[in-house]
Amino acid sequence: MPIKAVVFDAYGTLFDVQSVAGVTDAAFPGHGETITQIWRLKQLEYTWLRALMGRYEDFWSVTQASLDFTLKTLGLAATPELLTRIAAAYDALALYPEALAALQGLTPTRLAIFSNGSPSMLANLTKQAGIDRLLETVISVDEIKTYKPDPRGYRLVEERLGLTRDEILFVSSNGFDIAGAKAYGMTVARIERVPQEALRKELAAGPISPKSLFKALRMQPEQLGEGADLTISSLTELGPFVAARR
Ligand code: LAC
Repeated sequence: MPIKAVVFDAYGTLFDVQSVAGVTDAAFPGHGETITQIWRLKQLEYTWLRALMGRYEDFWSVTQASLDFTLKTLGLAATPELLTRIAAAYDALALYPEALAALQGLTPTRLAIFSNGSPSMLANLTKQAGIDRLLETVISVDEIKTYKPDPRGYRLVEERLGLTRDEILFVSSNGFDIAGAKAYGMTVARIERVPQEALRKELAAGPISPKSLFKALRMQPEQLGEGADLTISSLTELGPFVAARR
């Protein structure tokens, strides 16, 4: 089947979640790395827990609650104002360096984002990164009030694009998202943001930092029986793949 649209995950795929480290470290010097890693781990965990509990709250709420958990766990006091100010770092994440050129290089193929992010978080991110004009649409799980990797999310992508699953190339760095999209039947590209071999060396060398632990838990392929169709180390590699399947 020809690929008629390329759909990107946002956090960790187009935008670097590690780029909040400057903000977390400025707020609590010396604790930035630990906060950054526990925060992101907990943020995703809360999406899964809220989905299972049937108690959806949007990603902005989950982002604030997971930061609150992190600071309380570390015994760091923050006023509600400071907490909101730190959480806002998720609205100003850095775009991965190659992402803009990669998206530009994919036109005229239809491009979209499908993300856990709330509509306003995603609007802020895409606008400040200047990629909003390259995207046909930004699809949020908020429409279905649950989180990835619920199959209803990937179905929403099909519906919104008016395409079938086999006409969509989904791109993510998040193992659970790759497994979800693949289980649903999309063609899936895994962007390897943390090369496996380098991480193995890092873990073997020890001591294991919070960041290494995060990379091990969240940035490696999952063993859920649903692997990606291709693995790339830069989003610019998508251009030739899509051109050959257009
Ligand atoms: C997202 C999460 C998976 O952007 O990072 O949906």
